[in-house]
Amino acid sequence: MNAFEAMARRISANKFDPSTSLSEDDIRELVGHATTAPSAFNIQHWRFVAITKKEDKERLKAVAYGQQKIADAAVTFIVLGDLRGAEKLPEILAHSVASGVIDQAAADAWVKMTSGTTPEAAHDEALRSASLASMSLMIAAEAKGLASCPMIGFDGAAVKKEFGISDRYAIAMLIAVGNAAQGNSPKKYRLPVDEVLAFDRARDF
Ligand SMILES: Cc1cc2nc3c(=O)[nH]c(=O)nc-3n(C[C@H](O)[C@H](O)[C@H](O)COP(=O)(O)O)c2cc1C
Repeated sequence: MNAFEAMARRISANKFDPSTSLSEDDIRELVGHATTAPSAFNIQHWRFVAITKKEDKERLKAVAYGQQKIADAAVTFIVLGDLRGAEKLPEILAHSVASGVIDQAAADAWVKMTSGTTPEAAHDEALRSASLASMSLMIAAEAKGLASCPMIGFDGAAVKKEFGISDRYAIAMLIAVGNAAQGNSPKKYRLPVDEVLAFDRARDF
């Protein structure tokens, strides 16, 4: 399946086959695809908590307004953005310097540029990066014949408490992944391209 087909076929599934599971290696593979996404300065703010066990799915469902798909999907990812992601930047850049992609002066400049990031900007950046990785994960799932559903319907404070997530992390979304069951809606209506696209300058869309 190519990227166009995966994008066209992907739906936000509401019904998952509860009898299917994914191995830890399958889950690692999905997250590996997710991490091909771009991020500001290549900070890679995304982090993933994979909820796979029945009792943990029930705990997550309980703080996500009872969304049944969390219990039925093979895995639901809690996708996090690291608000202090820039702290890993020197370590990340060392790899790019070692492989000759950038030189040490550029690496030092990048670290300096990110050191003054405000908490608000760091929050936006973490959510942006985690969201890009989330989309990559959903496209990868589709390409592997799996269904997915992003979710923001949860109590963030309760999810953090229940799963021991510190305030260092912002929750970008949950993503359920598994085999689709019967009865899912087709892809929803999309606004026509000319209603969402302007050339050269913005307009009142
Ligand atoms: C950030 C985000 C949060 C969402 N939250 C939920 C959710 O909590 N529960 C749900 O059933 N669907 C959720 N959705 C799915 C949307 O309803 C769905 O993507 C939209 O209706 C378009 O449907 P389609 O992806 O099947 O075309 C969410 C989607 C996004 C992007």
